[in-house]
Amino acid sequence: MKPLFFPVPGNESHAETLAALCSAEVGRMNFRRFPDGESYFRLEPEVATRSVAFVCTLDHPDDKLLALTMAADTARELGARRIGLVAPYLPYMRQDRRFRPGEPISARLVGRMISRPFDWLVTVDPHLHRISRLSQAYSLTLGVVAAAPLIADWIGREVKNPLIVGPDAESRQWAANVAERLGAPFTVLSKTREGDQAVEISAPELQSYAGRTAIFVDDIVSSGATLVEAVKRLQAQGFEHPICVVIHALSDPVITAQLQAIGARLVSIDTVAHPSNAISCATLLASETGQLL
Ligand code: R5P
Repeated sequence: MKPLFFPVPGNESHAETLAALCSAEVGRMNFRRFPDGESYFRLEPEVATRSVAFVCTLDHPDDKLLALTMAADTARELGARRIGLVAPYLPYMRQDRRFRPGEPISARLVGRMISRPFDWLVTVDPHLHRISRLSQAYSLTLGVVAAAPLIADWIGREVKNPLIVGPDAESRQWAANVAERLGAPFTVLSKTREGDQAVEISAPELQSYAGRTAIFVDDIVSSGATLVEAVKRLQAQGFEHPICVVIHALSDPVITAQLQAIGARLVSIDTVAHPSNAISCATLLASETGQLL
């Protein structure tokens, strides 16, 4: 029998593309909220003895995680054979240390929450930094899609003479990988974060790269403060129209407009639906998912 993919509402497009590429059937997670805000859902068709995958990208995770884990538990109770999660964006990975006493290490807590009801997980480039391997936080079978080849292909097609720029130290792994694939020069800026929306960025002297197009490569845009400040630093050195390429666009769409207003462009992979989506991760997601099914 074909595997059965359930899109959590809002993930229909990813689920349908993946199902087509993996020769799977698309099921329905009928979902609504009771008037008091609690969740109701019903899985169709029957899952007994079938291999099941839920497709749910996990931006705004607090709205999604409870119903998602309840759905996986329900599929288990109803006799599903193996239960997977395709979550193109994996949340909370930046909270990977107890920065101050009394804080949670959310990456590990969410790792435990997801590892319990699921047998396997496929995701795209989780933010690995102080936790250097996903298996340090997750104890289920893992498939991780690397986005660097997609980003490098896009830049190779769209931009002549790029200078790849990591806006902060944490982006070095993606910027270096993309630059190497393109045979392009790269540099990394220094960032100090003062608050959720406030960062200070300094850039080295980059005159030897004059005439190139600066391409920022980062895994996440959230408040947008990092990219907005980084763009300004490079513009001060004459790189007038930088392009910002990110894997996971979590920011309010207003950030796209804000970057446009200062002469920069935001481009993202479609792990989270966003006006800046320009690069599809469907084929790589499907190939990783196919291996775990
Ligand atoms: C940092 O850890 C990430 O690589 C991004 O630089 C960061 O998440 C961007 O955040 P924001 O858009 O809020 O400045």
